[in-house]
Amino acid sequence: MTTTPAALATYPLHDGGGTPLVLLHAFPLDHRMWAAAARALPPGVRAIGVDLPGQGHSELSGMRARLEDVADAVYGTLRDQGEGNGVVVGLSMGGYVALALAERHPGFVVGLGLVDTKSTADTDQARANRLRVADAVTGSQTIDPVLSMPSTLLGPTSAAERRELFPQLEAWIRAQSPTGVAWAQRAMAARPDRTEVLRSFRGPVAVVVGAEDTVTTPDDARHMAEAAKDAALTVVPRVGHLSAVEDPSSVAAALGLLHRRVAEQAAPPRWPWQEGYTSTARP
Ligand code: MLT
Repeated sequence: MTTTPAALATYPLHDGGGTPLVLLHAFPLDHRMWAAAARALPPGVRAIGVDLPGQGHSELSGMRARLEDVADAVYGTLRDQGEGNGVVVGLSMGGYVALALAERHPGFVVGLGLVDTKSTADTDQARANRLRVADAVTGSQTIDPVLSMPSTLLGPTSAAERRELFPQLEAWIRAQSPTGVAWAQRAMAARPDRTEVLRSFRGPVAVVVGAEDTVTTPDDARHMAEAAKDAALTVVPRVGHLSAVEDPSSVAAALGLLHRRVAEQAAPPRWPWQEGYTSTARP
């Protein structure tokens, strides 16, 4: 049986031309967590936010709880909007989806931004915990079991100096549906290790991590940066697991650079008779 995934909700988050940054959000949030970082992008860098299935304004439409199906839904939605390729950027859960997209639709993904995420699968303990939370959400039909997450997601510096982020995150979490939250936990629990996908990815990669991230740690980020062929690693000081929310400007700067690297890789080579040619050859 062939199923066509339903279209996901997408949002133009920054104006520009050419290949877009496709911004995939963390759990249990939606595209709004990217808004501040998108505003801080360099001029001309186009950015599209996506609500992943069951989150924000995107429907689940009977989809299996598999990140492979999520990746297909993101790809199908953007292709139907006329996008031929994208620089796919995901924070945490969004990063798991970005790697699944690179695996399943390699022709679409011309650059990867892996922010506060990891390429490895859950440990048995982490998987069991996820399924326990999913069951608790389903059993109570409330999102109460994930309401305390902001204190884990935000780093100690944000907890002390950016107190306004707590009510902000709580409002975003409260807007999610119990069905979508439980479904996303089950989909993340089922994901495999995708370090090999990163190893064989040919385009530029930006790995970004908060120095105070205890969910997906700087060691997880170094593991990804070492696996990728062409990676730039940015460790953002004084932020935790939600670097794009805690320090949007630093994350936007790293993503702007990634976008430029992708554009440079796509540009035709310059020859001596062309304006702007610079030779590095020694006489
Ligand atoms: C997220 O921020 O998306 C989640 O913390 C990811 C996870 O639970 O692995």
